[in-house]
Order: sequence, then structure tokens, then C-alpha cells
Amino acid sequence: MRWDLYIRLFHWSLAAGIVANYFLLEEGETLHEWVGYVVCALVVFRLLWGFLGPTRARFSTFLKPPNIAFYEMRELASPHTLPNTHTALGGYQLVLVLALVIGVGLTGWMQDLDAFWGEDWLQDLHELLADALILVACFHVAAVLWIQFALKTPLLHRMWFGRKYATKAGQARDV
Ligand code: HEM
Ligand code: HEM
Repeated sequence: MRWDLYIRLFHWSLAAGIVANYFLLEEGETLHEWVGYVVCALVVFRLLWGFLGPTRARFSTFLKPPNIAFYEMRELASPHTLPNTHTALGGYQLVLVLALVIGVGLTGWMQDLDAFWGEDWLQDLHELLADALILVACFHVAAVLWIQFALKTPLLHRMWFGRKYATKAGQARDV
């Protein structure tokens, strides 16, 4: 399976926006603020899509109890078949990323309000949440690469745009 076009556009715009704001753009400048708001708008879209989108993209489909997540963690030691939606761990990661982006966006916006002018704790919190976001993204990318290359279980094609994506194991048939 492959994620629908909207999720794929959401994913790569989200990743690009976060990386740009964290590593490339001048902190607190206008462009930083606008990119931050665009990333927040993407999150609002994903929240709506999580309720109104196709079944496999819905929170109700992939948010499963922690015992399933523990079971899946054991599966990460060897090749396994992926569900046609997120794993439980992938679902938690999505929710965590959405929550962190909202937190980063809110603390960024609040820094511009007169009521919080010059408040150091707000800037510190903004930075802390942004650091957490990057940390989660690093674990996420490491997990994706592990599944794709160490376990040789095709995963990358689900989030990519090309028409054909053949893996060595030849398992990515439906693309
Ligand atoms: C700042 C960087 C990144 C962030 C914040 C991020 C975040 C996310 C999120 C939130 C999802 C869930 C998508 C949804 O259901 O809407 C996801 C899925 C995915 N991401 Fe990323 N991502 C990042 C970078 C990357 C990179 C660099 C890769 C490729 C190496 C990648 C590969 C994937 C794949 C394959 C999935 C689908 C997993 C599945 O089918 O369950 N991501 N990512
Ligand atoms: C993806 C979203 C965002 C990320 C990853 C991000 C990341 C960062 C980082 C890493 C810093 C440097 C913190 C420090 O060293 O003190 C920063 C500073 C700042 N950000 Fe953001 N930010 C985001 C969104 C926003 C938004 C939406 C706004 C406001 C509308 C905003 C306003 C600011 C301001 C005012 C500063 C402080 C600049 C200064 O005076 O040093 N950010 N941001």
C-alpha cells in the first residue's frame, strides 16, 4: 500500500518546514514565523484527515493499546509484515509530532504578545519543544531506515511519489 497523496504532501512539507525552522532560518525572523504557522496549518489538516480521511489514515484505525505496541517492539528484531496503516508505535509517533508542533507554534506565537514580552521561560520552552521535535524525528528516521534496510521490509515507498519502487525482496508490489 501507499499513503494517499495528501498525507505524502503533508509529510514532506512538515519535515521540510521543521528542518528549515530548526537548522536554516534565522530564529524569530518573519520567515521563521511564517514557516512555523504553515507547519501548524499542516497539523490542523492532519487532525481533520485523521477523522475524515480514508480509513487507514484515521486515528481510530491505528491508535492501539500499549500492549500491542510492546508486541510490535519485539517484532522489530526480525523481518515482519507491516499493517496497511501505521503500527501502534507509528501512530503514537504521529500524535507526539502533532502535539509538539502545536506546542512549538503556541510558544512561538506567545513570544510576540505584549503580555509575554521579554519572558525568558517562554523562549526556553519554545527551544525545548523544538529540540524534542527534532529528537523524535531522529528516532523516527532511524526506525524507518532500520525497517527498510536492516529488516529489508519495504516501507519507504509508502511515503514516496515515484511510480515504481521495487525492493530487493520484491514485496512492494502494489505501487
Ligand atoms: C523532520 C523530519 C520528519 C518528521 C517530523 C516526520 C514525521 C512523520 C510523521 C508525523 C509521519 C506519520 C504521517 C501521517 O500519518 O500523516 C511519518 C511517516 C513516515 N515517515 Fe516521516 N518524518 C520526518 C522525516 C522522514 C524521513 C527523512 C523519512 C525517510 C527516510 C521518513 C519516512 C517516513 C515513512 C516511510 C513514513 C510512513 C510510515 C508508515 O507507513 O507507517 N520521514 N513521518
Ligand atoms: C516548526 C516550528 C518551529 C520550530 C522548529 C522553531 C524552532 C526555533 C528554535 C530552535 C529557536 C531558537 C531558540 C533559542 O535558541 O532560543 C526559535 C526561536 C524563536 N522562534 Fe521558533 N520555531 C518554530 C515556530 C515558530 C513560530 C510559529 C513562531 C512565531 C510565530 C516562532 C517564533 C520564534 C521566536 C520569536 C524565537 C526567538 C528568537 C530570539 O529572540 O532568539 N517560532 N525557534
